[in-house]
Amino acid sequence: MWLDRKTSYFNRQHDIVLMNPLFAGAPILFVASRRVVQQLLGNEAKLRLVKPVELTLQSLIGDSLASASGDAWRRHRRILSPAFNTSLYSLAWDEASVAYEEVVYSEGWLTERQFDVSSINHIVHKFSLMMISRCAFGIPLAYEEPTSNPANPDFPEALVRIIKDFVLFAIVPRRMFNLPFKRLRIAKISWQKVESEIKALLRSRSSQESKAGEDNADILGRLVSSSGKLELTREELFADIFTLMFAGHETTASVITTTLGYLALYHQEQDAVAAEITSVVDASGNISFASMSNLPKLQACLTEALRLIPPPLFLPRDTEEDITLEIEYPEKRQIVVPRGSRIIIDMVATLRNPSYFPNPDVFKPSRWLEDNHDPDAVMFGAGPRQCIGRRFAQSTIMRFVACLLRDFEVDALTLPGETREEYEERIMTNATMAGTSFTLQDVPLRMTRRIK
Ligand code: HEM
Repeated sequence: MWLDRKTSYFNRQHDIVLMNPLFAGAPILFVASRRVVQQLLGNEAKLRLVKPVELTLQSLIGDSLASASGDAWRRHRRILSPAFNTSLYSLAWDEASVAYEEVVYSEGWLTERQFDVSSINHIVHKFSLMMISRCAFGIPLAYEEPTSNPANPDFPEALVRIIKDFVLFAIVPRRMFNLPFKRLRIAKISWQKVESEIKALLRSRSSQESKAGEDNADILGRLVSSSGKLELTREELFADIFTLMFAGHETTASVITTTLGYLALYHQEQDAVAAEITSVVDASGNISFASMSNLPKLQACLTEALRLIPPPLFLPRDTEEDITLEIEYPEKRQIVVPRGSRIIIDMVATLRNPSYFPNPDVFKPSRWLEDNHDPDAVMFGAGPRQCIGRRFAQSTIMRFVACLLRDFEVDALTLPGETREEYEERIMTNATMAGTSFTLQDVPLRMTRRIK
C-alpha cells in the first residue's frame, strides 16, 4: 500500500480494485475513495460488516472494543463511551503540558540554545505512553526510562518492553515463550508482570468506593464498574485496557512525529503556527484548554500530517451478505460485493486520492482551512465505529506541539550537502509499521530555543 502509493489503483484513477483469487480464498476489495468509505462505515450495522478478528489483536489479548462486532461491540462501546468526555480531554490538555516539561527537563533541552535530536520518535513515543497511562488508567508512568534488572522488571519497564517487543507477541505462539531463549524468557516475564499489575490495579479499584459508574468516572473506573455488574468479563476488561494502551499511544506518537518532521521542513507554515500559538499564550506562559479552538492552523497541520502518514494503514471488514456500492471513478456505476468478501480500506490511497486532495503528496495544511473542506475526512474512521479516542488524541497532540513550538524552533537536520528536498525524500517517505501503527522512521531535528 505504501510502496506503490503513486501507481496503485491504476495510477490513482480508480476508486476500488477487486482481487479475485484464482483457486481459493475470498475476493478482496481494496478501497481508495472517501465516498465509498463513508458508504461502508456509515452503514456498518445495516450492511452487517464484521471485523476480521485475525487482523486484530484478538488472538493475543482476547475480545475487545476494537476486535468485537455486533452486539458484543455495542456492549463495549456503551460502557466506554461516557468516559471519553470533556473532563478527560481537559485532563489530557493539562497533563500533556506537565509531561512535556518532564521531557524538556529529562532530555536536558534547557541547557543549550541549539541542539540536535537524532530521533524525535523515541521521545514522543515515551511521552504518549505516559499520557495514556496517566490519564486513562491513573498509572504514574515517569518519563525516565527505568533501569532495573530485565529478569525482574518493574511495571513501567515491563510495559515498555512489551511495547518494544510487540511484534514478537503478535507472531510467536504463546507456548513458544517457554523455549530457552533469553529474549523470549524476558518477554514472558514482562508480559506476566504487566498482566499481574493490571489485575492488581483492577482489584484495588474494585475495592474502592470510587466514582466508578458515574458518567464522569475515568476510563479505568468505567471498566471496573461494568465488570462489577458483569457487563464485561475480566478477560474483556483486560483486553480493553490493553487495546486502549496500544491504540492510544502509538497512533498519537506517529502523528506528533510526522507533524514536527513537516514543520521542520516548511518554515512558513511553522512560523504561522508559532504566531498563532503566541497569540493564545497567557502572561504566565500557559495555554488554556479553552484556547484549543483558537488554534486552527495548528489543527490543520496535524490533520495534514495524519493524511500523509495515517497511523492505521488499513481498516479491514468482512461481508456477511451481498452489498451494493456506488463508485465514481473511473466512471459512475454500481458494483456488488459478494458475501464472504474481505474489504480493505486502504488509508494511504484514500487520503492521497487526487480527486479529493489535489497534489496529494504535498504537505499543504491550508487545504483544511478552505471553506469547503471536509472536517470528517476518514483519518479517524467513520460512522459508529469511528475512533473513540479522537478528541483525547487531539488534545494530547495539540498541547504537546503547542508547548514545543512556543519554546523551540524546529529545523530539518540534514546530512552534509543534503538539500531540503532530499531530506524530505529520505526522511518523510521512510515509513513503516512499528507495533500496531504506521509511522515515520527516525526523524532527526535541530532545535533552537526561542527565548534566549
Ligand atoms: C491520532 C491518533 C489516532 C488515530 C489516527 C486513530 C484512528 C482510528 C481509526 C481510523 C479507527 C477506526 C478503526 C476501524 O474502523 O476499523 C480507530 C478506532 C479506535 N481507536 Fe483510534 N486513533 C487514534 C487515537 C486513539 C486513542 C488516543 C485511543 C484511546 C485512548 C484510540 C482508541 C481507539 C479504539 C478503542 C478504537 C476502536 C473503536 C471501535 O471499534 O468502536 N484511538 N482509531
